[in-house]
Amino acid sequence: MKRLFECLAVAVVLSFSACTQKTEAEKFVDDLMEKMTLREKLGQMTQVIPKTGVITGPEGEPMNIEELLKAGEVGSMLGVRRAEQIEKYQRMAVDSSRLGIPVLFGFDIIHGCKVIFPINLAAACSWDIDAIRQSAQIAAYESAATGIAWTFSPMCDISADPRWGRVSEGAGEDPFLGSAVSRAMVEGYQGTDLSDSSTILACVKHFAAYGAPEAGRDYNTVDMSERMFRDRYLPPYKSAIDAGAMSVMSSFNDYDGIPASGNKWLMKDLLKDELGFKGFVVSDYHAVIEMVDHGVAADHKEAALKSLKAYLDMEMVSGSYLNHGEELVEEGLIDMDAIDQMCRSILLVKYYLGLFEDPFRYGGVERAKASVYKPEHLDFAREVARESMVLLKNDNDVLPLDESADIALIGPYVSDGDAMLGSWAGFGEKDKAITYEQGIRERFKGRIETVRGCDPFSEVEGGVQKAVRAASKADVAVLTLGYPGVMSGEAASMATVELPQAQKELLEAVRKTGTPVVVLLVTGRPMALESVESLMDGLLVVWHPGSEGGRAAADLLSGDYSPSGHLAMTFPRCDGQIPIRYNHKATGRPTDRVQGVLSLDNLKKYYKSCYLFTPNTPLYPFGYGLSYTHFAFDSLEIVNPEPVVGEDVTVRMRVSNTGERDGATVAQLYIHDQVASTTRPVRELKGFKRVDLKAGESKVVEFVLKAEDMAFCREDMKFAQEPGDFTVWVGEDCNASLEGRFTVR
Ligand code: BGC
Ligand code: BGC
Repeated sequence: MKRLFECLAVAVVLSFSACTQKTEAEKFVDDLMEKMTLREKLGQMTQVIPKTGVITGPEGEPMNIEELLKAGEVGSMLGVRRAEQIEKYQRMAVDSSRLGIPVLFGFDIIHGCKVIFPINLAAACSWDIDAIRQSAQIAAYESAATGIAWTFSPMCDISADPRWGRVSEGAGEDPFLGSAVSRAMVEGYQGTDLSDSSTILACVKHFAAYGAPEAGRDYNTVDMSERMFRDRYLPPYKSAIDAGAMSVMSSFNDYDGIPASGNKWLMKDLLKDELGFKGFVVSDYHAVIEMVDHGVAADHKEAALKSLKAYLDMEMVSGSYLNHGEELVEEGLIDMDAIDQMCRSILLVKYYLGLFEDPFRYGGVERAKASVYKPEHLDFAREVARESMVLLKNDNDVLPLDESADIALIGPYVSDGDAMLGSWAGFGEKDKAITYEQGIRERFKGRIETVRGCDPFSEVEGGVQKAVRAASKADVAVLTLGYPGVMSGEAASMATVELPQAQKELLEAVRKTGTPVVVLLVTGRPMALESVESLMDGLLVVWHPGSEGGRAAADLLSGDYSPSGHLAMTFPRCDGQIPIRYNHKATGRPTDRVQGVLSLDNLKKYYKSCYLFTPNTPLYPFGYGLSYTHFAFDSLEIVNPEPVVGEDVTVRMRVSNTGERDGATVAQLYIHDQVASTTRPVRELKGFKRVDLKAGESKVVEFVLKAEDMAFCREDMKFAQEPGDFTVWVGEDCNASLEGRFTVR
C-alpha cells in the first residue's frame, strides 16, 4: 500500500510513466528495501576490511566483521583476496543473515590482476587505446575468477606534478588522452554486460582533482578555480562516467575548502545531477572520519552526517555510518529518503552484477586457479610493455644492439622483480616477473655480465669498481637506473625527482670507461635528468613494465621491434620547473627564449615569464618518443576550414616512414584557439592515432576534430564553443610544426 502511495506521489510530480516504467531491477530492489531495517540499510552503505586486508590508513572504529556479516550489516568487503575466503564470507552473509543480501567484494586491480601489465602511466605512453581496453578486460577476467567483482580503477586524476607518487596510476597530464584511456578502461572492466561473470564493476577515482595537491604532497589541499577544474581535470572522470562506470570514489583532498567526502556540490550537484551518474559513490579509505582531521567535523558522528548529506553512498572502512547513522535519523538530522536513495543505488548495482541471482557468480577456488596466467595473456602483457617503453635518446644509433654484443648489465634493478611490477600489484608475484637479466639473457648471444653497482640510494662496497671492470670489457654498458617500485603510488611523494647520488656516481664512473652507455630508466614518474643526460648515449624509459617487462625490453634492445612509446607526461629539466605541462597558458608576457641567462656577469633582466637561469622548456616534451626509424608529416589538409559552430572539422595529412626499418609512431593533433573569452592553453591535444608503417611506406591519416572538443568553460561558465580562428599542428609530439588554420563561423 505504501509503495502504491509513493508511486502516485511521484506520478503527480513527474509523470505517470516514471512509475510504470520501473525496471525489473528497480522493482526487485524496492521490494527488498521494504523489508529492510534502517540498520540493514546502513550496513549496505558500509564497506569493511578484515585484518588480513591491505591496510593503507589509520585504525577505524573496531568492528566484529563476522558478526556484522551474519547480521546483514555489511554491504561490501575490501581486500579479501583468496577465493576460498571470499566464498566463506559470502556464505556467512547469504546463509546467516536475515535477508541474505550478497556482499560485494572489492580490491585494487590497478594494472592487472595476476598477469601484471605496465603501470598505468606507462600504458598511457603506448597511446594504444585498444590495448589498454584489452588489458583491463584481462584484468577483469582474472579478478572475476578470484571472486573480486569490483575494482577501484581507473584512476582518472590528471596531474602535471611528478613529485606526486600517484602519477604512476594515472594517464598523465593531458585531459584528452586521459579521457580516452579512462573510457577504454571502463569498457574493458565492465564490458557490455555487468552481469557477465567475467566482467567487473569499475570505479572512477579519485573524485575530484586529487592529482593537483599543493606542493605535490599526497592527500594535500587542492584549490583551483571551477573553470580550471572543468577544463582540465573533470574530462577524464566524465568520460569514464559517460562510458557507463557504475561506481565512483571520492578523493581524500579538500576542494575549495570542503573535503570531497563531505562535498555535496561534487557528489550530488555535479556528479549525480549534472553528469547524470547512476551508480554509487564510495568514500576513499577512512576519508569520512578524516574530516575530523581536516577540521570540518568535531567527531565521527558529525563526519558521518556531512558525508550522508553530500550523498556519499558507501563508507570505506571507517564505520561511522553504521555506528552513528541510526542516531542521526532519530534526531532528524538526516532524512530517511536520503538514506533510501543511497542504499538503493548500491543494491541496484549488486543487481546489475547478477549477485542476487547467484551470489557465487564470481570466484570459486577451482575457477580461480584455472583462469590465471594464461599464456596468451602473458604474451599480451609483453606486447603492451613493449609499446609503453619510450626511447628518449639514441645518439649515434647506439640502439638497437647486435645480438652477439658483449653486455655489461649494471645497476640496482637488473634482477629485481619488484621493480618490474611497480606499485599496486596486489596479486602480482615478483618471483614470476621476467627481469631485465632474464629477458636479455634469453635473447642475446654474447657474454652477459651482471653487476649491481649500487643500491638505489647508497653505494655497495666495491660496486662501482666491479661495474667499471665489467663495462671496460663489454661492447655496451646497459644500466638499470631510477627508482624502486615502492617509490611510486600512494604516499610516495618526493621533493626531488632527480637521479639519486649513488646512481649518479655509478653512471659517471661507467661513462668514463668510454664504453657506450644505454640507460634503462626504471621509474613510476617523470624524472629530472638534465644533470646526467649527457652521460648517456641511449635512454629508454622502461617504467615498471609488469610480468613480461624483461622480455619486452629485450624485444626493443635487440631491434626485434622498434620503440613506439610517446610520453604522456612531460620530463622536466630540474625539480624547480615542477609542475610542468605542455598545455599551459600563454600569460601576458610569453617568452620564446629557449636558453636561460647562464652567467651572473651578463645577467640582463628580461621582463618575460621565465626563470633567470633555466629555460621554460622541458628536457623531453609531452608526446615525445623516438624510434629506430624516422617519420615525416606533410600534405596537411583541412577539409572544411570554415565550419560553423557545432560542426566537426576534418583534418588529413600524410605520414611516411622515411627510414630503413618498420615501425610505428603516434600521430598527434594539437589546436590553439587564438582569441577566446577566457585564456586558452598554448596548445591542446585533440586527436591521436598510432600508425604502423613499413620502411618507406606512407599513409594518409585522418582526424575528425569534434565540435565538442573545441568547447571549453567560457567566461559565462557555459561549457561550449566560441567562433573564431584556430591553429592546428600535427606531428609526433607537442612541438609539432606542420601547421594549418581554420575559422569557426
Ligand atoms: C587509495 C585508493 C584505494 C583504496 C582502497 C586508498 O588508500 O587512495 O586509491 O582504492 O585505498 O585500497
Ligand atoms: C611593475 C610594477 C611597477 C611598474 C612601473 C611594472 O613592470 O610590475 O610593479 O610599478 O612597472 O614601474
